[in-house]
Amino acid sequence: MAQFQPLILSTWDFGLEANQAGWDILVRGGTALDAVEAGARAVESNPEITSVGYGGYPNEMGVVQLDAAIIDGKTGRMGAVAALEGIRNPISVARKVLEKNRHIFLVGAGAKSFALREGFREENLNTPQSVRWYAEQLPQSQQNAGHDTVGILARDARGDMAVACSTSGLALKWCGRVGDSPLIGAGLYLDQAVGGAVGTGVGERAIEVCGAFAIVEFMRYGLSPQKACEQLLRRVAERNRNRLNFQLAFIALSREGETGAASLQEGFVFALRDSTRDHTAPSAVFGRDYP
Ligand code: GLY
Repeated sequence: MAQFQPLILSTWDFGLEANQAGWDILVRGGTALDAVEAGARAVESNPEITSVGYGGYPNEMGVVQLDAAIIDGKTGRMGAVAALEGIRNPISVARKVLEKNRHIFLVGAGAKSFALREGFREENLNTPQSVRWYAEQLPQSQQNAGHDTVGILARDARGDMAVACSTSGLALKWCGRVGDSPLIGAGLYLDQAVGGAVGTGVGERAIEVCGAFAIVEFMRYGLSPQKACEQLLRRVAERNRNRLNFQLAFIALSREGETGAASLQEGFVFALRDSTRDHTAPSAVFGRDYP
């Protein structure tokens, strides 16, 4: 069996926490699928991280509605949930959808009843901090705040790959709004013959261009993960020439273990962990040239 160097790549500085949880699995010979799920669970369960999972930003009604998705490169299976209420770890519900392998995407009340049937525990996802934030922010009706999705790509020692992402979505979003994160092809995509990509930022702009799918296709036709992320963001920037006041960022990982990261605005960092590195770094920025 060919040996590959395990590697895990995540969005934002909280990606360090995701990478730690995933790396613990990868170094013991575990699968990329288990690693990305564990990484997302670590971030979802941390109430200090207010854009994912427990303690995530509430919607306009003050309710935390969570989106998550996961893809297993080895089998090509996928699972996703959206607008899921009352379950702390939506990524594990998405994983359960993947394992059942009957459907791919469950939403709202259906996703919740599936989760309860599978033994997940219902709980209040609002923390004192998120309740206070909601009371303070609502009068200002803040737009496009709080979209920091955790996205995680991993390759294990067998060369198998997986991708996961999880978010509470835009803060104060309309009830029932679903962003890019649980949409296969928009927020995340993986074809193990090529590689994978996952995004963070304003989901509507990623949905419009099938962002993650486009990046993987660019890689399929010869672009490096870095150039593929840049090419996709150039397309987004051109579409939004006169209203480029939002953040969108993607990370990508090729089958060979080459990484890429790019964002439209300053401020995005990615986190990388392998046998020699455990750090965050700022991505290349591509919005500047499109005022
Ligand atoms: N990227 C997260 C969202 O827009 O919901």
